[in-house]
Amino acid sequence: MSEVVKLERHDEVGIVTVNSPPVNALSAAVRGGILECIKAAIADPAIKGIVLTCAGRTFIAGADITEFGKPPKPPALNDVLSEIENSPKPVVAAIHGTALGGGLEVALACHFRVAVKEAKLGLPEVKLGLLPGAGGTQRLPRAVGPELAVKMIVGGDPIGAAEALKNGLIEEIVEGLASGGEAFVRKLLAEKRPLRRLRDDDSKLAAAKADRSIFTNAVAAMTKKSRGLEAPFAAADAVGYAIDLPFDEGLKKEREGFLKLVASDQSKAQRYAFFAEREANKIAGVPEGTKPRPVNRVAILGAGTMGGGIAMSFANAGVPVTLIETGEEQLKRGMGIMQKNWEATAARGGIPADAPAKRMALINGVVGIENVGDADLVIEAVFETMAVKKEVFGKLDQYAKPGAVLASNTSYLNIDEIAKSTKRPQDVLGMHFFSPANVMKLCEIVRADKTAPDALVTAVTIARKIAKVPAVVGVCDGFVGNRMLAQRGKQSEKLLFEGALPQQVDAVVTKFGMPMGPFAMSDLAGLDIGWRSRKDRGIKSEIADALCEAGRFGQKTGKGYYKYEQGSRAPLPDPDVEKLIDETLLRLGRKKRVVSDEEILERMMYPMINEGAKILEEGIAARPSDIDVVWLYGYGWPIYRGGPMFWADSVGLKHIADRLAFYAKETNDPSLEPAPLLKKLAAEGKTFASLAAESKAA
Ligand code: 3HC
Ligand code: NAI
Repeated sequence: MSEVVKLERHDEVGIVTVNSPPVNALSAAVRGGILECIKAAIADPAIKGIVLTCAGRTFIAGADITEFGKPPKPPALNDVLSEIENSPKPVVAAIHGTALGGGLEVALACHFRVAVKEAKLGLPEVKLGLLPGAGGTQRLPRAVGPELAVKMIVGGDPIGAAEALKNGLIEEIVEGLASGGEAFVRKLLAEKRPLRRLRDDDSKLAAAKADRSIFTNAVAAMTKKSRGLEAPFAAADAVGYAIDLPFDEGLKKEREGFLKLVASDQSKAQRYAFFAEREANKIAGVPEGTKPRPVNRVAILGAGTMGGGIAMSFANAGVPVTLIETGEEQLKRGMGIMQKNWEATAARGGIPADAPAKRMALINGVVGIENVGDADLVIEAVFETMAVKKEVFGKLDQYAKPGAVLASNTSYLNIDEIAKSTKRPQDVLGMHFFSPANVMKLCEIVRADKTAPDALVTAVTIARKIAKVPAVVGVCDGFVGNRMLAQRGKQSEKLLFEGALPQQVDAVVTKFGMPMGPFAMSDLAGLDIGWRSRKDRGIKSEIADALCEAGRFGQKTGKGYYKYEQGSRAPLPDPDVEKLIDETLLRLGRKKRVVSDEEILERMMYPMINEGAKILEEGIAARPSDIDVVWLYGYGWPIYRGGPMFWADSVGLKHIADRLAFYAKETNDPSLEPAPLLKKLAAEGKTFASLAAESKAA
C-alpha cells in the first residue's frame, strides 16, 4: 500500500488523498500511489465515483523538480493520467492551494474539477525553462480555449478560482474541500452526468481552427518579453499542436518538446535559480527555530525615490506604513508620486480601479521622526551620508519602541558604524532595496556584527511577505551587488580609454541578456552624482568628467554617453561623444586599438566573478547561489544563465582565472589578478557548485 497516497471509501465515493509534504510534488512514489489507488477504486464495485484531493497546504504543486535530469522512474506521469482519464467512473479533482504544472495536468485528466475560492491554478513550467510535459498543452486549450491557454502556458502565471470557473477550467467553487468534492461527486452520480474527457472534446478549438490568427495573436502578445528564452516559444508551438493535430499526436509532440527542454542549458539554469531562491531563505548561523518578531506596522524615513517605492511595496502587501519626512513639501511630493504610480497601473488594468485609494489609505504620511513610536520595523531611506545616517539612528534610539528592528537602506555605508550610534545594535541591520523599489524583487539583508538572530529572521520574513526575494549578506562597501558592479564599472570605463565606444560595450552586455549596458545605466542614474562625488574626493575620470563639463548629465539633460530624443528613453549613439572621447585620448596621449566583443564580454563579466570569489572568501555571502540570487533579482541577470557564479562554472573557472591573469598583465591592472579562492578552485578543477556542496556536507 502506498505511503503517500491513500484510498478511503465514504459509501459510494472513493476518496484518493495525496499526502506528501511540503507541496505534494509528483515524485515517483506519489505517481505510483495515485495509480495504485485509482486502479483500486475502479476495481472496487462499491465505489461509483472518485474524488482526487490532497492533504496539507496545497493540491499537487507540480512534478518533483529534483527528479529532472535523473534517470526516469516508473510510472510515467502520462500513464497515470491515462488511467484516470480512461476510468469508467467519474473522477473529480478537488483543489486547494496551488494546482501547478503536473498538478494541474493531473486535474485536467480528471473528468471534472472543483476548487475552494482561494485556490490558484496554473502551468508555470516556462518559468523553469520547460513546457508542460504531461498533456497540459493539449488539454488546457480544450478546457479554456487557446487564447487563455496561451496566456497561462506561455506566460506561466496562475489564475484564481473565480477566473477558472468563468472559463470552464473548474465546474464549481466549493466551500469545504473534502465535503465539497464529495458532494459534487454525489451530484454527478444522481444526475447521471456523462463523463467529460477533455481529450475527446475539441469544441473550444473550433474558432482557432477556423481562424489561426486567434492563436498567433495571443502568442505574439505573450512572447513580447521573451527575448533570449527558448521555453516560451516551444510552449507556444506545443499549444499550436492542440489546434493542428489529433490529441495523441499532439501529446507525443509535446513530450518531445518537453524532453528537449529538460536537457537544455537554459532549463538547467532556471531550475537552479528556483532552488537558489529558496536556499537563500535559509540563514547560515541562526539557531534553528528562531522566530521572527511580529511586524504590524512599518515606519519609513524619507519619501524620496527609495522610501516611496519601499512604502508602496508594503502597502501592496497590505502592511500599514508610517511614512516620515522632514517637511510638508517633501511629504506631499512623495505621496503624490505614489498615488500617480498606482493610478497609472490601475489605468493599465494591472490592479483594480479601487486599489490606489485603498493602498494610499494604508500609508500615513507625517512630518517628524518622533512619529516612529508605533512601528515594529523602521526602514531608513534618507540621504546617503554617514553623518546623516548616524544622526537619524541616534534619534531612532530615542523614539523607536523597544524591540523594533531598525533597518537602513544604505547602498554602500557601514552598518556596524551606523549601529554604534544607537544603544541597541542588536536591532540594527541593512535592508537594501533596489530601484525602482516597488518593482525590483531583491532585498539584500545586511547582517551587522551585533545583529540579533531574531532581528535577521524578522527582516527575511517581512521581505518575503512583501513579495521580495531576500538574500542575507555581510557588511562591506556596496555589499554583494554594488561591490561586484563596481568592478564592471571600472572595466567599462577603462575600455573607453583603450578604443571601445559606449554603444559597443553596451551592445555586448545586452546581447548577453542583461537589460541594460553600463553606459545606458549611467545615463539613467545621472552622471552628475558621480562627478560631484569625484570632485569632493579629488578624483578624476577624464571622459565622464568631460561629458559633465559639457552639461551631459544623462537622460535628465537629454544627453550623456548617448543622446535622447525629446520624450524618449532610447539611447542613440552620438558622434559628439565619439569626438569627445577621441579628443580626450589625444590629450592624454592614449593610443586607440580595436577591442573585440569577446574581450569586452570577458572584461565585463570575469572581474565580477573574481569579486564574487572574494565575497565568498570573506564570508560576505554564505553561498555562491546567494550571489546569483542578488544578480537575478536586483540587476536583471538573464535567468537562463542562472546567475554569475552559475554561469562561471559553465564557462570553466580555469579559463576565467587564466584570462583574468592575462588581462591583469596586458592592461597593467593588479585588480584583475585572480582571487585566491578562484585560483584554488581552478587549480583543483573544481566549481563554485562543488564548493557549495562541500560546505553543505560539512
Ligand atoms: N518539486 C520539488 N520541490 C518543490 C517543488 C517541486 N515542484 N515545489 C516546491 N518545492 C519545495 C521547495 O524547494 C521548498 O523546499 P525547501 O523547504 O527544502 O526549501 C518547499 O517545497 C516549499 O516551497 P516554497 O518555499 O516555494 O513554498 P511556498 O509556499 O512559498 O510556495 C509553491 C509553494 C507555490 C508551490 C512554490 O513552491 C512553487 O511555485 N513551486 C514550483 C511549482 C512549479 O513550478 N511546478 C511545475 C513543476 S514542472 C512540472 O510540473 C512539469 C510537468 O509538466 C511534467
Ligand atoms: P532621495 O534623495 O530621493 O530621498 C531621500 C529623502 O529623504 C528626501 O525626500 C529627504 O527629504 C528625506 N530625508 C532626509 N533626511 C531625512 C530625515 N532625517 N527624516 C526623514 N526624511 C529625511 O534619495 P534616495 O535615492 O531615495 O536614496 C535614499 C537612500 O537609499 C540612500 O541611502 C541611498 O543610497 C539608498 N539607495 C538608493 C538607491 C537609488 O537607486 N536611488 C538604490 C538603493 C539604495
